[in-house]
Amino acid sequence: MKVTVSLIKADVGSLPGHHRVYKDQLELAKKKLHEAKETGLLIDYHVFNAGDDLELLMTHTKGVNNPEIHKLAWDTFTEVTEKVSKALKLYGAGQDLLVEAFSGNVRGMGPGVAEMEFEERKSEPLLVFAADKTEPGAWNLPLFRIFADPFNTAGLTIDPTMHDGFDFVVHDVMEGKEVMVHCPAEMYDLLALIGTVSRYVISRVYRHRDGEIAAAASVTRLSLIAGRYVGKDDPVLIVRAQHGFPAVGEILEAFSFPYLVPGWMRGSHNGPLMPVPLKYSQCTRFDGPPRVVGLGFQLCNGRLIGPVDLFDDPAFDTVRIKAAEIAEYMRRHGPFMPHRLGPEEMEYTTLPAVLEKLKDRFKEA
Ligand code: 13P
Ligand code: 13P
Ligand code: MG
Ligand code: MG
Repeated sequence: MKVTVSLIKADVGSLPGHHRVYKDQLELAKKKLHEAKETGLLIDYHVFNAGDDLELLMTHTKGVNNPEIHKLAWDTFTEVTEKVSKALKLYGAGQDLLVEAFSGNVRGMGPGVAEMEFEERKSEPLLVFAADKTEPGAWNLPLFRIFADPFNTAGLTIDPTMHDGFDFVVHDVMEGKEVMVHCPAEMYDLLALIGTVSRYVISRVYRHRDGEIAAAASVTRLSLIAGRYVGKDDPVLIVRAQHGFPAVGEILEAFSFPYLVPGWMRGSHNGPLMPVPLKYSQCTRFDGPPRVVGLGFQLCNGRLIGPVDLFDDPAFDTVRIKAAEIAEYMRRHGPFMPHRLGPEEMEYTTLPAVLEKLKDRFKEA
């Protein structure tokens, strides 16, 4: 049976400030998706939050980029905005909904989308990740580790079904183009691209041997659509696990290092990505540090069995403590780079308006 998994998200308002999706927003989103399940449009769904981002995980048989599914997500976001966010004056009501009217596909309209269609295997472990206070390039490092680094993924060495490696589709968010790069053959080329996380973003990963989809990520950059800072493009990711793909623990292992990502306060600072259980899915200190949540499911004819709250494990305590230490270290830089992002990234914030004020006071030195 061919099943499509769609994970579509938007920040449509939160409390207090940019911290957390409110329970009434989650309830209304669940109600909307429940109705769509009753009509047969969805096989199943799961609604959750990554900080202030409302996450709609949906399964169906309509394929990727399906207008009905995208409209369902869009209508859910707009209804939650109108009936809850605006009604309760939540912060940033409808923040990520950049256009007035839906035009067939939510891509380019603000919400983030990760989708994949595949033939469901005899057993289909499926992981989804969602991050808050960062941007899509944040998945580059873990995706590389999961699918290309044998020091992370033992299966790349041990499991013959993974020996042919994986193909990475890298999206150039500035030019709107993409390129497919094979690993391990072109590993250095891949790294040359994806080290620039602000521009080159891994959008999909395929198993090289048979072209099976292994991972799909969102690539939306709101500031490039809107031409101004709207909020960060807090990204989502879907990864298939086991039996010819990396094991669940190999996928999670990639998050055992709290690497630095752009985002955090005002979307303008580098900070460590902290893996947390859902109960800690809210960015507190200096609106951060940036966080990632992970949910694990088994698919059963499209039904989502689960979830398991993957980072709800003391094995990740040391990662969180390390992230908190790095957060402290970075914070001590205050307004200085490399804690604050560089000028190219600040272009979309309110910083240029401040610099504009001083423009006429500059004299020849
Ligand atoms: P499969 O890759 O066959 O699912 O098993 C490997 C495994 O789970 C080791 O942790
Ligand atoms: P979000 O992108 O999560 O809305 O955060 C915006 C922000 O400016 C936090 O300080
Ligand atoms: Mg927000
Ligand atoms: Mg957010």
